[in-house]
Amino acid sequence: MSNRRTIAAGNWKMNKTASEAVEFVNALKEKVADTASEVVVGVPFVCLPGVVAAAKGSNIKVAAQNVHWEESGAFTGEVSAPMLADLGVDYVIIGHSERREYFGETNETVNKKAHAIFKHGMTPIICCGETLTQREQGVTADHVRYQIKVALLGLSAEQVKQVVIAYEPIWAIGTGKTATNEQANEVCAIIRNTIKELYGEDVSNATRIQYGGSVNAKNAAELFAMSDIDGGLVGGASLKIDDFTIIAKA
Ligand code: 13P
Repeated sequence: MSNRRTIAAGNWKMNKTASEAVEFVNALKEKVADTASEVVVGVPFVCLPGVVAAAKGSNIKVAAQNVHWEESGAFTGEVSAPMLADLGVDYVIIGHSERREYFGETNETVNKKAHAIFKHGMTPIICCGETLTQREQGVTADHVRYQIKVALLGLSAEQVKQVVIAYEPIWAIGTGKTATNEQANEVCAIIRNTIKELYGEDVSNATRIQYGGSVNAKNAAELFAMSDIDGGLVGGASLKIDDFTIIAKA
């Protein structure tokens, strides 16, 4: 048994207005008041101030869904790490496959973002995962190992202990096609092993690795009970309060 604390994080993606978000978090905080897991909501930028205020004093932590790696400057439409830290944000999700696919996120920008997030006292949730073609071609392990190696470049052992990694097979995102417990655990173990090679066992035993991809109220407990899975990054089901409450307690 590991002593890693399970982390149940919702990734709302581009859903909910600022007022809907506050209403949701006000209701959620009562439902998850006594959960052993760490509970995180990953909300759109405009929802952050209201959600941070609503979550204050509760055991809900707040995540942003992206950040720019520079501190400030001529980057129209972007948001920097000091801006997020100033709001009281705890986590920042980076490297999500949707950002890689639609917004040009690369392993290199993920690495720069990870450094910026730590510099400003927050913690990155680093996403990785293979396409269906990569799985079918048998290159899942190579692909995910490469993503993780580049994402972590230059981070200290202490930082890598704090990092949260989310393994999200792209074919399982929003498709209702969850990886089996064994498939998910296998890749999470490969990621842990990669961290062990780079930073040693002390660090790899501490880093939390989530599974994401069609996690729901029915499958969460089984997935989270696997040896190398320390919780989930949840899309669709995190928008429904009763489902996310069950997941947070799984
Ligand atoms: P779904 O849970 O909707 O499949 O989304 C997973 C995801 O992308 C979380 O980041």
